[in-house]
Amino acid sequence: KTAVKFVGAADTDYAEEESRKESQQALQTVRHQLGKTYLPLINGEYVNTQEMINSVNPSNYTEVVGKIGLLSIEQAEQAMQAAKAAFPSWRTTPVKQRAGILYKAADLMEQRRAELAAWIVLEVGKPVREADAEVSEAIDFCRYYAVEMERLEQGYNYDVAGETNRYIYQPRGIAVVISPWNFPLAIATGMTVAALVAGNCTLLKPAETSSVIAAKLTEVLVDAGIPKGVFQYIPGKGSQVGAYLVNHVDTHVIAFTGSQEVGCRIYAEAANLKPGQKHMKRVIAEMGGKNAIIVDESADLDQAVIGVVQSAFGYSGQKCSACSRVIVHTAIYDSFVRRFTEATKSLNVGAAELPGTKVGPVIDANARDRIREYIEKGKTEAKVALEMPAPENGYFIGPVIFTDVSPNAVIAQQEIFGPVVAVIKANNFQEALSIANGTNYALTGGLYSRTPSHIQKAQEDFEVGNLYINRTITGAIVARQPFGGFKLSGVGSKAGGPDYLLQFLEPRTITENI
Ligand code: SER
Repeated sequence: KTAVKFVGAADTDYAEEESRKESQQALQTVRHQLGKTYLPLINGEYVNTQEMINSVNPSNYTEVVGKIGLLSIEQAEQAMQAAKAAFPSWRTTPVKQRAGILYKAADLMEQRRAELAAWIVLEVGKPVREADAEVSEAIDFCRYYAVEMERLEQGYNYDVAGETNRYIYQPRGIAVVISPWNFPLAIATGMTVAALVAGNCTLLKPAETSSVIAAKLTEVLVDAGIPKGVFQYIPGKGSQVGAYLVNHVDTHVIAFTGSQEVGCRIYAEAANLKPGQKHMKRVIAEMGGKNAIIVDESADLDQAVIGVVQSAFGYSGQKCSACSRVIVHTAIYDSFVRRFTEATKSLNVGAAELPGTKVGPVIDANARDRIREYIEKGKTEAKVALEMPAPENGYFIGPVIFTDVSPNAVIAQQEIFGPVVAVIKANNFQEALSIANGTNYALTGGLYSRTPSHIQKAQEDFEVGNLYINRTITGAIVARQPFGGFKLSGVGSKAGGPDYLLQFLEPRTITENI
């Protein structure tokens, strides 16, 4: 068989007037649809719920994006039973057919690109360009995992004289996907379609604040032909429905992206064997980061300043890949801080849908209050080089830059998940590296340098899952920068990489004496 090659989707070119018009139009169309009700999909049917919550626009929280029906525990159990019933036929559905559904889903997302981006803009407050890039990533996950499953389906032959040895992969069973709000389409899609194409029946529980977008993904999968029971959309409370399914005796795989606290709890709970349980659960947990960029004395400061600004303040710092520490060599410290501060001042803070916005809102009131507490804490620990004002009617926080931060300060150690950066001084490169490595996390990291020995050393000793040299540290692309960390940043292999699907599969060896 000839291998299908994966080709990534192109982002929209907003330099084209046509694209800008289409984006504006999509925002208008989506606006007319705000406030609709979205219900869980169980066994191919949208079912009524007792409890409803509103998902609001973080740029203007009086605007209800959608009303979400929250699943009860009884309904979660029904969803699990439906998934179990659907499994025997899904596991034997040919890979070509399963992959075909993913290719179709990718095409549907491409057709609905501007509209899906508009939902992202309005439900989670992500500026338009970044929302569009997220749609590309979701499309890429569909196509890449389809190609990958077709590759893995070939298995391996280890035949010797008189004996055939086949190494093959089978699905694990039921996958529970718990997805985050910060990449509400891309990450939800990635974890879900990986589980599905590998032959697992999959239950998707999105973060409550991004349930509408997960409902859009549900529409796409249904339109792409996913059979009933194989995929189910189960919005609900993490502490109830999420916990119930994590602890369920019939759950085989849990794919989670979110906070370290929740990830660690899931890992622990999944390890407890329940009465009647005949397997160990596999947990994939992508958690946080306290990502650093080192700027050494040989760095091109023009490049470094732009890269740090984008990495730190893109989507208001709410990416697990975001830069929240900048470690700068003493020799260029003052000039870096001055230029970084000036460049940050030029960012427009405002509603995500406005074309000029660079820094939109944070996700909700809890996040805003938590970030504000960190800012107050920071003021007791370090100098404030910049604290930008922000509009009132949404959950806005203007970018904040702290300087002369001690490497062990709270704001230099804990993940803030907002537009707040700690600038730390280092006397030499070795010290910069050990400061960079001095947290519990190991997700992304960056280095701006023109010194080959420093670049070499960083490759060897910078403890991060994704190391970026002389560029931004966010925006990993599927099959180009497989993404994920280690230490307390996560457990499991990288999304968008060649080992990812293996986590949803059980390898078997079949030997025949001939
Ligand atoms: N994959 C995203 C990035 O690289 C983070 O989840 O920015």
